[in-house]
This record gives sequence, structure tokens and C-alpha cells, in this order.
Amino acid sequence: MAMGIMGATGELGHRTVEAILARGTAAEQVIAAVRTPSSAADLLARDVEVRAADYDDPDSLKTAFACDRVLLIPTSAPSSLRARQYDNAIAAASAAAVRHLVHYGFVPTMVESPFQITPFLLSAESALRMSGLAWTVLRNSVFMDPIVDWVPAIVKMKTIPLPTGNGRCAYITRDDIARAAAVVMTTSGHEEKVYNLTGPKALTTAQLCGVVAKVTGKPVKPKPASGFDYVEACRASGVSTEATRCACLCTGRSARGTWMS
Ligand SMILES: NC(=O)c1ccc[n+]([C@@H]2O[C@H](COP(=O)([O-])OP(=O)(O)OC[C@H]3O[C@@H](n4cnc5c(N)ncnc54)[C@H](OP(=O)(O)O)[C@@H]3O)[C@@H](O)[C@H]2O)c1
Repeated sequence: MAMGIMGATGELGHRTVEAILARGTAAEQVIAAVRTPSSAADLLARDVEVRAADYDDPDSLKTAFACDRVLLIPTSAPSSLRARQYDNAIAAASAAAVRHLVHYGFVPTMVESPFQITPFLLSAESALRMSGLAWTVLRNSVFMDPIVDWVPAIVKMKTIPLPTGNGRCAYITRDDIARAAAVVMTTSGHEEKVYNLTGPKALTTAQLCGVVAKVTGKPVKPKPASGFDYVEACRASGVSTEATRCACLCTGRSARGTWMS
């Protein structure tokens, strides 16, 4: 069964291709659908088929999606643009007679979520359900990887300035998400299912401080932080704008004490 992975040059997409191959899937069955094929040379060298696919170019999607199953990974574009990109992808998948679409979503996909990407998350799941194709949604929790990358700065700050109050989050690594997606992409019985992919335990930021202190042996202590503290700390440590935007989500949900638990 041939399967296409959008965004296979990205952190999560590349890990997902790796995880699919690690399950023993023949490389010829795997299609890396990427914006710039030359940037997927490492996958091509492993016999993965590389096809040009840009969410903003519907014709490229129709050609790239000549396969049975496609994993859609959202871009980091603003919500309304992401929704248009998914409309293009779902229309192309229908035209190309794709059987099954799998979508990487996000755990807090609910109307009342203050997260700025929520309108896209809701519209993406609705569009999948109305597409007439088989679908599966993998609702990811917050990536753990950026927290790990942030550890040197956290050690310097002696705290984690996340404005989460007592809210909890079950962070998950991109590798774990990729392994779960690889199972869905390579086995049957996942149609019309929504899976929440989370880490094993929902932690408060105070508990997260304790984990970092234990692992590094450095004093990292909880300290109340506002959204402003978080944005300033992100700016100072060079954290991406996308991650910084999550401050809105942190403050909104932590205020209700249920930060993505
Ligand atoms: N759960 C979380 O905590 C969390 C946090 C941040 C983001 N996210 C979401 O998860 C997604 C994947 O994360 P990541 O870390 O893998 O991001 P990433 O490394 O930035 O990868 C994004 C991928 O999207 C591709 N892309 C961008 N615009 C495209 C377009 N118009 N058409 C086709 N492909 C396009 C990029 O291709 P190029 O190589 O050509 O640029 C890249 O392969 C993000 O985009 C975001 O939606 C989740």
C-alpha cells in the first residue's frame, strides 16, 4: 500500500517517515511529499519516492497524492491560510482517489479554546469528516522537544517561566508521535477514529521544574510567571515566534486550571 507523507522535510514529518521505515515498510511504498524535492535528498538516497507537493499549489497535490493513504501535517501558517491549504489537500485527495486521510491535529480542539489556531483545527477535522474519504485524526499534545532544547536557558533562568498557573500538560516527544502515526499509517482499523497522543503524565510547570532540576542537578525552582514573562524569556532565548505565540494558549487554559491535561 503506497502512502504519502506531507511535510516530510520537517521535524515531525521526517521522523514519521523514519518511523514508518523502521516498522519494515518497503521504502518504495513511502512517498515523501515535499515543497522542495532537493531538500529530501537523504530520503531519496534510501529509495523513498520524493514528489513535489505544495499546499498552496493544488495541481502539485493532485499529482503527489496518487497513492492509497496520505498523512497531512499542518504548516505553521496563520489559521485561515492553513484552512485553505487543507481545503486544497482534501480536494486533491478526492480527485486522486486517495482512500484514507490521516491528520495531525492538536489536543485542545474545542470551540472554547483560546488558542489562535483553534479555528483551523476545528475546520480541518470537520472538512475531513465531510470529505467522503476514510479519515483518522491524531490529536497531538504539546511537543516536549522545545522544552528539552530550552534546558540550557532554563538552567540560567533557574525557573521555567511558563504562565500556566496550576494547569497541567502531558508533553510528548515528536518521536513518540511519529511512532504512533507509523502504526496508523501501516495497519488497518483506524478509520473514523480520533486518537489523543499525549505523554504518560500531565505535569504542572512546578513539577516540570523538578524534572529539569533532577536531570541537570541544577537549582530550577517554580516561580509564578505571567504571559509577558514568558514572551520576554522566549525572545531572550531565541525561541521561535510560533512557540512564543502559544503564550496565549498557556495563559487562557491555565487560568481555568486545565492546561491541556
Ligand atoms: N504540538 C505542538 O506542540 C506543536 C508545536 C509547534 C507546531 N506544531 C504543528 O506541527 C507541525 C509540524 O511541526 P514540525 O516541528 O515538524 O514543524 P517544521 O519542522 O517547521 O515542519 C513544517 C513542514 O511543513 C512544510 N511546509 C510549510 N509550508 C508548506 C506548504 N505550503 N506546502 C507543503 N509543505 C509545507 C515544511 O516544508 P519546507 O521544508 O519546504 O519548509 C516542513 O516540512 C507544525 O507545522 C505545526 O502545525 C505543533
